[in-house]
Parts: sequence; structure tokens; C-alpha cells
Amino acid sequence: MTELLKFNWRNLFLGLGCLLLVIACNSYNPSVNPSAKTWKIATDPTFVPFEFQTPQGKIQGFDIDLMNAIAKVSGFVVQFESMPFDGMISTLQAKRVDAAISGITITAERLKTISFSRPYFKAGLAIATRKDNQDIKDFNSLKGKKIAVQIGSTGADFAKTIPNAKISTFNSGPEFFQDLLNGNADAVVSDAFATLYAIKNGKINGIKVVSELLTEEYYGIATPKDSLHLDAINQGIATLLSNGTYKQIYQKWFNIEPPKLPESL
Ligand code: ARG
Repeated sequence: MTELLKFNWRNLFLGLGCLLLVIACNSYNPSVNPSAKTWKIATDPTFVPFEFQTPQGKIQGFDIDLMNAIAKVSGFVVQFESMPFDGMISTLQAKRVDAAISGITITAERLKTISFSRPYFKAGLAIATRKDNQDIKDFNSLKGKKIAVQIGSTGADFAKTIPNAKISTFNSGPEFFQDLLNGNADAVVSDAFATLYAIKNGKINGIKVVSELLTEEYYGIATPKDSLHLDAINQGIATLLSNGTYKQIYQKWFNIEPPKLPESL
């Protein structure tokens, strides 16, 4: 054994031979596109059904399917990185990831520091309350109420416009709904599709969505400012919209026809 570990020319050649063999096998594997680059994609998997984790820890959802489909048609490989929603924009600014998909609303404010792909999902905010709540029905009835929101979200920005609201902020979806169920908060302002989906699929109980949509928003895939990846992402989205894949993914998660999307905002 010690003989084997000692340096000698035979062992060196043996080692180099093995290394070359491994490299050769990898680069001739026909199932792997040798030019395919791996892109790091940030996501906050606490947002059903866009991105969430199965009990086994697998990341799934509409955004995940869409991103994988874009990668397939645009010829790159995706590696998802979980992180809190709140840290995503600064992570993009620091170019620590190639892109982020996380139900991120395209806003003028965010466009100052990062870039977005063309819109890939039509969304909007809604008010959620406990099922037994009778007095919160619309924007006006939120005045002076206790509102729970996700830190750094468009729901959090919206809550700031409610006169005299007492706002509590949380890092993830399950937490602000818990605050509402506990009776600490009177209402939650968050993305309507995600909330309705969570209610319908029994992920949260005892909560209802009241009123119409408060806003009209579009989600985009976010990248560092003027990223060179934007073209590939946009072309990927265009391909999926025209070849029926987008519709297929949309129906898989929402069981309805997707609405028409604008090419840009
Ligand atoms: N659409 C909202 C926003 O952009 C909330 C998105 C939350 N997404 C998430 N994966 N937690 O601010």
C-alpha cells in the first residue's frame, strides 16, 4: 500500500492515464451538448405554484418548468440557487447569478438597477383575509389595519400606500399567511395567483381572497443590468409562446388558457 502512495514515475503515468480517460469520456458523451453553459438561476421557492419545494426538497413549479424549457431551446443548462426573495435584486446587481426567476414583477424602480426579459406572466396583487373577516372588502377598508407582506415585494410597496396601516414584513409566503391566521395581521397583500392557488390546493386554510385585483403586474426573468443573456432568454420565451410549450406549461399549473402577453411593457 505505502509502495503505491510513494512517488514514482509509474504511478504518475498511471494517474495521468486515468485522468485523460475521464476527460475523454466526458467530452465524448453524446447526450451532453459540449458547448452548453451552466447558468446559475436564483429563485425563492416559497411561492406556490411558481416555485416551491416538495417535501423531498425538489424545486418545482411554473417558473421552474418555464426556465428549464427556455434553457432547452436556447441551449444552456440551468442550476437553480435558492435564496430569500429580499436578497435577489442585490445578488443580481453583484452578478453573483446569471438570472433570477421568482414571480418577479417588472417595475420601473427595479429597472433602474437590473434588467428584465419580456413579460412572461400576467399577474396582480390581491387582498387576503381570514375567512370569518367581514369588514375588509377593498382598498378603503384597509385603512389603519394590520397588514402582513413579504419583504421587498410589490405587495410590501403597495401596503405603504394604505393610510395608517401597520405593516409587518416576512421573508417567505408561509410566514405572512401564518401571521394572518394567528390573528396578528388583519390582511395580507400579495400576488393573487399564488394566493388563490394556495387556497384552492389546501396549502393554506382559513383564508379567502377579497375584492378585485389591486394592480396589474407582469413577471419577467431578471438579469444583471444589460446582461448578454437577455437575447437568448427572450428568444427562448418567443419560441415557447409560438410552439405551444408556454400554453402547455400554463395549463399544467393553472388549468386555464393563458392570457395574451404584451411583447414589452
Ligand atoms: N411579484 C411580487 C414581486 O415581484 C412577489 C414575488 C414573490 N416571489 C417569490 N418567489 N417569493 O415583488
